[in-house]
This record gives sequence, structure tokens and C-alpha cells, in this order.
Amino acid sequence: MSDLNIAVIGAGAIGLTTALEVQKEFRNARVTVLAEKFNTDTTSFVAAGLFRPGTSFCGPTETITRKWINDSYHHWNDLNVTAEASLAGVTELSGYMFSKISPDIVRNSYLEGLLPIYRAATEEELSLCNGGWKYGSFFSTLLIECGLYLPWAANKFLGGNGTIETKKLSSLSELAGKYDAVINCTGLGAKYLCNDFKLVPIRGQVLKVHAPWCKTFFYAEFDTYIIPGFNSVTLGGCRQYDSFNLDICKYDYLSIQERCESLLPSIKSSPLIGQRVGLRPHRDPVRVEKEIVATPTDKLKVVHNYGHGGYGVTTAPGTSKHAVELLREILIGNSKM
Ligand SMILES: Cc1cc2nc3c(=O)[nH]c(=O)nc-3n(C[C@H](O)[C@H](O)[C@H](O)COP(=O)(O)OP(=O)(O)OC[C@H]3O[C@@H](n4cnc5c(N)ncnc54)[C@H](O)[C@@H]3O)c2cc1C
Ligand SMILES: *[C@@H]1O[C@H](CO)[C@@H](O)[C@H](O)[C@H]1NC(C)=O
Ligand SMILES: *[C@@H]1O[C@H](CO)[C@@H](O)[C@H](O)[C@H]1NC(C)=O
Ligand SMILES: *[C@@H]1O[C@H](CO)[C@@H](O)[C@H](O)[C@H]1NC(C)=O
Repeated sequence: MSDLNIAVIGAGAIGLTTALEVQKEFRNARVTVLAEKFNTDTTSFVAAGLFRPGTSFCGPTETITRKWINDSYHHWNDLNVTAEASLAGVTELSGYMFSKISPDIVRNSYLEGLLPIYRAATEEELSLCNGGWKYGSFFSTLLIECGLYLPWAANKFLGGNGTIETKKLSSLSELAGKYDAVINCTGLGAKYLCNDFKLVPIRGQVLKVHAPWCKTFFYAEFDTYIIPGFNSVTLGGCRQYDSFNLDICKYDYLSIQERCESLLPSIKSSPLIGQRVGLRPHRDPVRVEKEIVATPTDKLKVVHNYGHGGYGVTTAPGTSKHAVELLREILIGNSKM
């Protein structure tokens, strides 16, 4: 397999996690990450990075979805008990979800049974936050901060002899003949590259504030959340379906500030560090598939790994593992294997 030449397109959480998985599984292959944008310019950088697949998150079947989530959790949890954890931006984080509407909103069948603690909140805990919450759950999960994880993963990849190139692809045919296979981790970029109309942006805006005393996350109804990270606390948020607007919106800012301050008055007057907007690459289901694409000059072996919506940091390891299994399948018959 020594001459295998594999390209991974995209350098967000999905692309870099996939690139590391390819290196791990194909030790002698030459692996190249090609991407237009890196680190602070990706959607991944905007994420708070809470390990929490939403109940609507879905792969092609429930069994596959659950396997992705289980593999992902174990991957992050294994990293969390190494000396690298804080360099990679991984840590444990506990907190609450609250609802006034229904007990179902605070339950999550993907997480119950997977996380070490997932239980109903007590009466006392329900009044920790303002809002007259009727239902709540407490759970102990992980946080993966991409501001740390993306540079850590890129360095690890380079240390394993990977190559990183800055390049915007306008067509797949640019790659034909150059690689034995390509893994497509372009997030929302796939919409343009491939006219995949199932991909929809779900716009989110967040505030980053300085509140180092805040050590617990709070997640309330209507996309209001307070999530402490390594260097700041993320306040959110919103989910605007089919919006491509990457500009900061002052009405969103005011709404997030008001909702978060009313949830947790003690964060009032926490200094604002910055604001960020990202477009979650939503697709139902997330696309982890192999495909042989005919280009004008050649046939290119492609594995897709995109469309993780609001849960791409959470599910990057499991979907990447699956994508690399498909890579192995699509390469069978390759004379170099
Ligand atoms: C406000 C907000 C909060 C979030 N919070 C969480 C959270 O708490 N937990 C969680 O799990 N998820 C969260 N998410 C979701 C998460 O950010 C995404 O699911 C994840 O970032 C998707 O990763 P990705 O690698 O597919 O995409 P991206 O990070 O967008 O990376 C795509 C890469 O592909 C490259 N690319 C695209 N097109 C081309 C092209 N034509 N040529 C070359 N390169 C190309 C880009 O340059 C980039 O490098 C949040 C998202 C937002 C917006
Ligand atoms: C979850 O994943 C771990 C490690 O990847 C594995 O050992 C375990 O059997 C899996 N559990 C289930 C229920 O699939
Ligand atoms: C990287 O390449 C160098 C030179 O070819 C080699 O000595 C080294 O073992 C390689 N490292 C890894 C992690 O593959
Ligand atoms: C990504 O996937 C789409 C959908 O099939 C495809 O059209 C596009 O060319 C792919 N891009 C790359 C770089 O593989």
C-alpha cells in the first residue's frame, strides 16, 4: 500500500479528523489535506463543541447513527484521559437542559446509557436558573474546543508525514488522475461543488464572553445556551434555516444577550470578547457514502463525509471511522493494495 495517494478535501473538524483516521489505518499512504479555509475561518471554529447529538441527528439507519455516536464518544473520551487532552481542547463538562414544554425535550436517547451520568434534574436544580423550568436533566459529557483541536489535529497530521495545501476546488475533475481516492469533507462547500440540494445552511450566531467562574453548561429551550470552554464562555444562539448570512446581526446579538442574562443573571456584565457566525451544514441524512465519479478525463474514487449540521464536532470521529472503512472498500481492486 506504500504508493497509495489519498486526498482529504476540507480542514474543518470533519476533514482533519478523517485525515488522522486515514493515516492511522493506511500507515504507508501519502495523505494530503486540501482546503480553501483553515482554523478560524471554518464553521468548526464557531462551534461551542459540546458533545451532544440532537435527537434529530440522523445517518442512513438508526443502527449506523448509534454506532457513529458511540464510536465518537469513545474516541473523544479516550483522548480525554491522555496527557494531550487539554492541548487538543478536550475536557469533561457537566450541565443542565431545561424545558417548560415537555419532559421529552430534556431527554436524549442517544446519550442516556452512553454518558456516565444522565439523570432527571431535582426540584432544587430546576430553580438554579431563572425561567420557571418544569423539566430538566443533568448530564456529564465532553467539550471539544475547535480553537485548540483544529491546530492540534493539523500538527499531529503533519507530524505523521501528512501534507496540507491551501486550494479552492471548483471541480472534482481537478483531482482526477492525481489521487487513488478522495474523501469529500467540504461541509456546506459540497452544496456548490456538487449541487447537493439536500444540504441546507442553518445559521447560528454566538457571543464569546469572559466569565471564568462559569463551570457548568446550561441549555434551555429556544436555542438559549451558556457553554463554558477553555478560553471563554459561549452564549447562544439561533438556528436560522436556509440563511446564508455570515454577517453579525445586531438583533441576534441583543436577543442572545437578553435570553442568556435572564437565564443566568450572574453572567450580566461579563466582558464581550467577540462574536461569531457560522452556517451549520445540515443534511438529512448526513452523507457518508462511496461513489465512483466520472470526470471528463478519468474515474475518481470518492468517499463523501459531509452534512453534519449542528453536530459535526460531536460526531466527527465516528463518521470519519465509517468513511475510512468505505475508503478501504472502494480501494479494493487497486493494484497498490
Ligand atoms: C453557532 C454554532 C454552534 C455549534 N455548536 C456545536 C456544538 O456545540 N457541538 C457540535 O458538535 N457541533 C456544533 N456546531 C456544528 C459544527 O460546527 C459543524 O457540524 C461542523 O463544524 C462541520 O464541520 P465540517 O468539517 O463539515 O465543516 P467546516 O468546518 O465548514 O469545514 C469545511 C472545510 O471544507 C473546505 N472546503 C469547502 N468547500 C471547498 C472547496 N470547494 N475547495 C476546497 N475546500 C473547501 C473549507 O475551506 C473547510 O476547510 C455548531 C455550529 C454553529 C454554527
Ligand atoms: C461502543 O464503542 C466501543 C469502542 O469503540 C466498543 O468497545 C463498544 O462495544 C461499543 N458499544 C456499543 C453498544 O456498540
Ligand atoms: C516520515 O517520513 C520520514 C522520512 O521518509 C520517516 O523517516 C518517518 O519515519 C516518517 N514518519 C512517520 C510517522 O511516518
Ligand atoms: C463532494 O460531493 C459532491 C456530491 O456528490 C460532488 O459533486 C463534489 O464534486 C464532491 N467534491 C469533492 C471535492 O469530492
